[in-house]
Amino acid sequence: MSNGRKVRVKVPASTANLGPGFDTLGMALSLYAWIEMGETEQTGFHLYGDEMKDVPRDKSNLIYKVAQMVFDEAGVSVPELEISMYSEIPLTRGLGSSASAIIGGMVAANALIGSPLSDERIFDMATALEKHPDNVGASLFGGIICAAWDGSHADVIRIEPPEDLEALVVIPEFELATSKAREVIPSSLTVADAVYNISRSSLLTGALASGRLDLIGAAMRDRLHQPYRAALVPGMEAVLAEATQHGALGIALSGAGPTLIAFVDRSESRKGELEAFLTETMRNHGIEAQTKWLQPCRTGALTESMNENGMQNQSFLDMIKGEVRS
Ligand code: HSE
Repeated sequence: MSNGRKVRVKVPASTANLGPGFDTLGMALSLYAWIEMGETEQTGFHLYGDEMKDVPRDKSNLIYKVAQMVFDEAGVSVPELEISMYSEIPLTRGLGSSASAIIGGMVAANALIGSPLSDERIFDMATALEKHPDNVGASLFGGIICAAWDGSHADVIRIEPPEDLEALVVIPEFELATSKAREVIPSSLTVADAVYNISRSSLLTGALASGRLDLIGAAMRDRLHQPYRAALVPGMEAVLAEATQHGALGIALSGAGPTLIAFVDRSESRKGELEAFLTETMRNHGIEAQTKWLQPCRTGALTESMNENGMQNQSFLDMIKGEVRS
């Protein structure tokens, strides 16, 4: 059993869809959440950072709940948990914060009891909760993932991100619930639009797998969700239409939004121009937005196992201070 044991997990943020690959493609990004979990006598929470201020500190907490799912699945009982979490992933912005919490909680709980569940089982359980595999797959496996979910199992392929690819995210100040951004998508689409998306999603997958950055712009176009979601994100239509003229290889709504994500060649000379174009265009539409340069994250959720004696004399907060960039 897990007496006295504690584990720490570092889990990346993610972007889903990459334009046409709705509910299928995902990429892990270099923004992180850290979770520490240990068995205790009375459940308690230590949640740090601005993103954590409204997160529940009782057994309705998502991390606590997903940990209990893992224990139930493994047939063990660990009712009381001490959970610490720090996250730099903005909430409800389309950067996979809930997926990273689900994956971080599940991976930590599994590690705490000696890892009886496979990553594949965790992936299925996490996808069943999220209802789509794109964000959770990227946070769990890292890199780029393509996944298909049949309602109980997700098949997945992981692609190593091209060396020269980096990302610029534009994070608007306002939040957008995924449920609201899914409601605006029509329940059926024409065969022409389906073909439009299948062909581009396939092309994008191949382009990313083979490092064909030149194809990314054409391949990231979408007719399944972005045209309908554009009304929810002022400035998005203009940004999607023109970003490639300012140095982006391609651009998309990140997941359900409202964040936009531009992919850029690392050697691109117009990075400053692109950043200014994106923020100014959003501002012209009344939206204040923060930009961040991010890297594709090649590793998924990483576990560090500790016991009370063997643990480096480093508290969770000291560890975070050492890891967080600014
Ligand atoms: N594929 C999902 C969507 C991602 O676009 O609704 C949500 O995080």
